[in-house]
Amino acid sequence: MMQMQIGLLPLKMEGQRLLLVDQRKLPGGLEYFDATSFEDLCFAITAMVVRGAPSIGVSAAFGLALEAKRQATMASPSDFMAKMTESARILNATRPTAVNLRWGIDRIMNGLSTALKNSTLESENVLAAKAAFADAEQILDEHIQSNKAIGEFGNQLLPSDCNVITHCNAGSLAACGWGTALGVIRSAHFAGKNISVFVDETRPRNQGANLTMWELTEDKIPATLVCDNMSGHIMLHKKVDCIIVGADRIALNGDTANKIGTYNLAVLANYHHIPFYVAAPLSTFDPGISDGSMIPIEERDENEVIFQSGQSITVPGARAYNPAFDVTPASLISAIISDRGVLRAPYSESISLALADKFGLIEIK
Ligand code: MRU
Repeated sequence: MMQMQIGLLPLKMEGQRLLLVDQRKLPGGLEYFDATSFEDLCFAITAMVVRGAPSIGVSAAFGLALEAKRQATMASPSDFMAKMTESARILNATRPTAVNLRWGIDRIMNGLSTALKNSTLESENVLAAKAAFADAEQILDEHIQSNKAIGEFGNQLLPSDCNVITHCNAGSLAACGWGTALGVIRSAHFAGKNISVFVDETRPRNQGANLTMWELTEDKIPATLVCDNMSGHIMLHKKVDCIIVGADRIALNGDTANKIGTYNLAVLANYHHIPFYVAAPLSTFDPGISDGSMIPIEERDENEVIFQSGQSITVPGARAYNPAFDVTPASLISAIISDRGVLRAPYSESISLALADKFGLIEIK
């Protein structure tokens, strides 16, 4: 079996600078956005320079660790933590749906508060900030590992000849390294299976057309771009073996939030008796919510719908509605492919088991 070469990572550190792949510019050009300052990081998440739930979480962790370094010499440990708590609150408000954002922030903040428990010396802030940076690097490595585990578990579900539909971009740019939904597709392809992919363009921001097609083409995995409204026709007239999508937040009962249009795909897949798989790391599960009705759905600017490449596609003064995500009920999900294994219904049981067991990460050679 071919060795897994991870794809382009969504971020890199250059000295003390946090550089993000500007995903708005792909596939036209590979540019890096300097998100070293706290304000630039918050802008980069809101404006979707970096996007995709796991990559948002990892970028937030690095950004908050850099902020800790900046603030470390400025105050006593208690003032420092008060400042960091405020920064964490601002960062967490940049986008509401992807729970990985809060997950990444909590990991760093828990590390800081543990390190500074009962501390009074300013010098300890510096040590805590250093540890926070090591945490961020650990989080990135964990996601690279978890991507690979998801790929391996998901590959076992796919037949040797397999036509897949995927939605949005859940690849190395969105998930750090190998991808979640695209990680499954990559693992199957590089395991020698005959995989071909129908890629939803994913209006209004076209993550499928811009990013997923780019990643699959880079890996020479056969892919066909389709409009989001073609899924039903494709399922009726073409051989589709399964649907694989990513996730932004998974509730304890399995209800899953993902890019708008995912719910449509799930309903169609069930009507056509086609397996519908969700692929996601444990950092995307939200143990704090029991079902999907509690997932906040981001509504973005109407102009993302009205304008394409700067051109209006409608009449002057038109209004648009732009929910960025929808929720697929657990009843429509055939399996959730996680980094702890393939979870099946009843999800309240399998998810609780997986969350309880999350520490034993599998190392895929
Ligand atoms: O608005 P985006 O581009 O951040 O939405 C991304 C998605 O919905 C992805 O499918 C999801 O985050 C999974 S990424 C591995």
